[in-house]
This record gives sequence, structure tokens and C-alpha cells, in this order.
Amino acid sequence: MVGRIQIAPSILAADFGHLGAEVEAVEAAGADLIHVDVMDGHFVPNLSLGPVVVEGIRPTTKLELDVHLMIERPWDYLEAFADAGADSITVHVEACPDPADTLERIHGLGKRAGIVISPPTPVDEIEPFVGLVERVLIMSVNPGFGGQSFLPEVLAKTDALARWRSERGLSYDIEIDGGINVDNGRNAAARGAETLVAGSAIFHASDYRERIAAMRAAAESGLASRRQ
Ligand code: DX5
Ligand code: ZN
Repeated sequence: MVGRIQIAPSILAADFGHLGAEVEAVEAAGADLIHVDVMDGHFVPNLSLGPVVVEGIRPTTKLELDVHLMIERPWDYLEAFADAGADSITVHVEACPDPADTLERIHGLGKRAGIVISPPTPVDEIEPFVGLVERVLIMSVNPGFGGQSFLPEVLAKTDALARWRSERGLSYDIEIDGGINVDNGRNAAARGAETLVAGSAIFHASDYRERIAAMRAAAESGLASRRQ
């Protein structure tokens, strides 16, 4: 739990011809962390990037590199992403036959561990693992592509995650990813999400600073309404 709103631009929507400059630009514009979407063409139908790209952007930012693995056999690649400079590594519950073991391996590499759940998967499937993570990521689109529309029905999952967190005295960050914009980001924060991932909404904006500030202000108002 970070207790405040964090904005995490997803570099999937950045200009890959100038990726280092894009990362520097969103950091200068007020981003809190950099979300890195890794796709293997198997777990999801799309291909994106691997550890060499993480290694390439590492020197361009001091922000947390938040690596979201949408890949089969994620445990085989943890060390490569850790060595490349990831600060946190988040794995899909749907890709892990033994999530506790995979999360333990991430911690063994000295990195923050996260678990992520796709829209069709019931939130109860991650319930046994929430005590083992620093982050829970709720997908609000089916993973694989940027630019999809937000699925509002996933917000019910944030209720359960916020409840488990307070009932059990846990402190994981609740992150939401997919189709997030200023409006639904406010709703997501009102339901308990603190870290908002946004690809298109940030990188397709003409002014990154203005868009990040608008997302943050809207989400902070959602968070404040939750506290009342
Ligand atoms: C989807 C990725 C998301 C996505 C976000 O598979 O995990 O991070 O790129 O992009 P937008 O905000 O465009 O949906
Ligand atoms: Zn993602």
C-alpha cells in the first residue's frame, strides 16, 4: 500500500524508435514508475520486448521499472529481467502452476514481487498469494494489446483486494492496467486502486505533463471520496 496515487506510463504505447527519450520525457513529466509490458506470442498473441530493452532503458531513469510478464514459463526469465535492471516483476497467476514458488524466486533475486490476474479469472484464485506480494495487478483489458477499452466489471476485484489487505494487515499495492484514462482512473481509485498504468492515454497525449497531472488529480479525488 503506497497510500497515494501513482501513475505508471506503459512504454508499450511509446515511440520505440526513441524509447530512451520517451522514458526520460515521462519521468520529467511526473511519472512515478515505468511499466514494462513483456509479451511472448504464446501466453498472449502479441510480441513486445525482452530483457535487452529493459537493460537499454535502465540508465535513462531512476524510477522503478515495473516489469509485467505476459509470458509462459515466467520463472525461466526472472533472472534475466532482474539482471537487466527490473525493480519489480509481476507474473500472471494463469501462467504459474505454483505461484508461491515463482514469487519466492523473485524475492530471492532481491526484487519486489507482484501477481496479476486477467479479466476472466476469479479474484479468489489469487487469494492464497496476496500475503506473498508487494503488488497485485488487476487487468482491466484482456492482456496482449494496448489501446483496448476498459472493462468496468473488473472493479469488483479491487473491493476484495482492499478488504483482504485491511483485514490481514497486508501492504501490497493495488495496480490496475488496461484502457485507463482520466475518467475511469478516478473510478478505479475510488474503488481502491492506487497505481494506475496507462499506455495510450499518456503516450498519445500531446502534453505528457498535463495528461499525467490530470490523471493524478482525478484519481486523487477518487481516493479522497473513498476515504470519506
Ligand atoms: C496490455 C498491457 C497494458 C497496456 C496498457 O496487455 O498489459 O499495460 O499496454 O495500454 P493502454 O493504456 O493503451 O490500454
Ligand atoms: Zn501491463
